[in-house]
Amino acid sequence: MAELSLYLHNPETLIKGAIAGGEVQPCGRRGDAGLHSQSLMAWCIASIHITKVSYQGSGRVPVALAIPLSHVIWAGLCLMGHCGLCLMGHCPMHSLGTGSSTASGTVLAQVPASSEVVKATSREDSQCCVDPLSAMEQEYAIRQELGSLHGIPLYKSFIEGWPQVKAFQARPDDLLISTYPKSGTTWLSEVMDMIYHNGDVEKCRRDAIYNRVPFLELKVPKMCGVEQLENTPSPRLVKTHLPVQLLPTSFWEKDCKIIYMARNPKDVVISYYYFHKMAKIHHDPGTKAEFLENFMAGKVPYGSWYDHVRGWWEKKQEKKILYLFYEDMKKDPRQEVQKILQFLGKELSERTVERILHHTSFQEMKKNPAANYETMLPALMDHSISPFLRKGISGDWKNHFTVAQNERFDQHYQELMSGSDLHFQMEV
Ligand code: A3P
Repeated sequence: MAELSLYLHNPETLIKGAIAGGEVQPCGRRGDAGLHSQSLMAWCIASIHITKVSYQGSGRVPVALAIPLSHVIWAGLCLMGHCGLCLMGHCPMHSLGTGSSTASGTVLAQVPASSEVVKATSREDSQCCVDPLSAMEQEYAIRQELGSLHGIPLYKSFIEGWPQVKAFQARPDDLLISTYPKSGTTWLSEVMDMIYHNGDVEKCRRDAIYNRVPFLELKVPKMCGVEQLENTPSPRLVKTHLPVQLLPTSFWEKDCKIIYMARNPKDVVISYYYFHKMAKIHHDPGTKAEFLENFMAGKVPYGSWYDHVRGWWEKKQEKKILYLFYEDMKKDPRQEVQKILQFLGKELSERTVERILHHTSFQEMKKNPAANYETMLPALMDHSISPFLRKGISGDWKNHFTVAQNERFDQHYQELMSGSDLHFQMEV
């Protein structure tokens, strides 16, 4: 019989219970969970929910990841030799990703075909209820290969959703927040939402930032940026990381306002490296040295940083684009907020601006669940590996680059940025 370890992520504790043969009591606080393996049956009793099953170590021990929920869920799990984890003990073979159903029998994650069979059923087979997010979470948890969208490396599921993005209908009062990843998108998004709500902190806690400012090209099971935006009332804030040449044409046709934020590439690459580690959509980034090479070669999601920042910089000559820098925001956020207000043709009192600056400071955002991405389930983002709001400084690259790497990076930077009047501050 295979061993099954159940890890329960509690806010404060990690509890491990294990089955090896007969009945085993889980470790941890009484009442947190029950785990039972009699007759190859296991059940979970408590405010937990299975989010992922994977195999660990050379012994290929199946490991279930679980998160606490606010209500009791009877979740059953079934590890079938050729198929995966399913509910209720009967797996529809290989139906992963085929639909949005979370009904009994939905496959939540695949496991290696060579695994030993461990069956488990819920205590209330006929009444199993599963949070709809769980299936999405499981599927999302599977790391994605990068495909190529018109020459730009991108997550395959995003490419699958491309026709919808291309045909996206912008509205004239949409405001687009555009960035290369890890350039301060979330920071700018929070600032913009605060400005749109006249500095009302409570209104800006109404939902997570990824719902308040939908991500245009996001496409993963159960989450679609375009659909989210279609259901968002105007005036909408829209987030994108698309390079300028791929922006859906309706944004230009409707003459939408656009704010682009750029960050120096050395801090971007370090931030991106840690993001690859914590956000499970990515493959293992390898060593920092390897990731640095890939970044310089543009072999990372969204491709070349150099092309991205230059493309949007050049577009600003002809379109309504406010081009901001992360480093300027760090140095003088008040001045940058004033620039935004001017761009929007909006006035706010000094007190309101003060409140916006306070609420969007790194320290405040880091502890704000509506801004720090901690509401994303652990199977999607693992903040224990690296928090989403990691350091929030300029010049952290100096703690990571070797002298040789820095010299090589500088030389490469000069080559790729030559002829441009776009300049970056590598630290502030
Ligand atoms: P670090 O990883 O260097 O800390 P994005 O939102 O585009 O993914 O960018 C994430 C980066 O912006 C992270 O950088 C994060 O810490 C930083 N960031 C987010 N909010 C910030 C804030 N209020 N002030 C400064 N940096 C912030």
